[in-house]
Amino acid sequence: MKGIILAGGLGTRLAPLTKITNKHLLPIYDKPMIFYPIRTLVDAGVRDLLIVTGGNNAGDFLRLLGNGSAFDLPHINYTYQEGEGGIADALRLAEHFAEGQKIVVMLGDNVIEKDIRAGVAAFRKQKRGARVYLKEVANPRAYGVAELRGKHIVSIVEKPAHPKSNLAVIGIYMYDSAVFDVIRTLRPSGRGELEITDVNNAYIKRRQLSYDVLDGWWADAGASHEKLLETSLLVAQRDGMKFSVSRGKN
Ligand code: DAU
Repeated sequence: MKGIILAGGLGTRLAPLTKITNKHLLPIYDKPMIFYPIRTLVDAGVRDLLIVTGGNNAGDFLRLLGNGSAFDLPHINYTYQEGEGGIADALRLAEHFAEGQKIVVMLGDNVIEKDIRAGVAAFRKQKRGARVYLKEVANPRAYGVAELRGKHIVSIVEKPAHPKSNLAVIGIYMYDSAVFDVIRTLRPSGRGELEITDVNNAYIKRRQLSYDVLDGWWADAGASHEKLLETSLLVAQRDGMKFSVSRGKN
């Protein structure tokens, strides 16, 4: 299985931090954000990786990651998304890299506490279709939200005003090679993007979308300045850093 990390987009929600660098190069505790999704995929046994980036600072990914020695990889692949056409538009660029194999896709601003080994192992056995991860959240309006009937996802709505559940579809998606044909059928949404939620709904229509519920916390680190800070604190706490915030004590 091949891995794809999507790190394009302009990151305008994190301005002015993103005026001079790409969102995925900002620090989360002691590492650049992009390190976390790479680590998640490598730990799940996915070692053939493509990074999709864009914007003005794409060259900095090469300087930072090179051929992946920080992750004991022999090589990393890179490609460039022109503009900000959406998550599915960025994924479209991975067709050549995928070479007809199954893929696991992770958004470059998603950070998780634990690992995705079980889901990736289950998808290796899954004959066809797609697989997503769900996580209970306090504010489903900010995410793609799954509606379940019995054990099945029957629909996903992107940032719904009236969510049907509190189960967010997080930024880790697994697809068979049909995904690129699905993307070719998409039309831009109201916000002018090719939506990953539309891709997942196409798999629901085919009755080919499975899911797991993620164990441990999940953070959409790039969603806001608050989330960026909160994710740093979550990672620091997970990694055993002892800290407390106290005024003026150095
Ligand atoms: O984080 C999970 C959520 O991510 C899902 O619940 C939503 O269904 C999904 O649409 C997405 O929502 P966001 O509004 O948070 O997506 P955002 O625009 O922040 O993009 C997330 C990542 O995708 C970003 O870190 C880089 C990549 N991306 C995004 C766009 C718009 C690209 O590579 N290219 C793009 O054009």
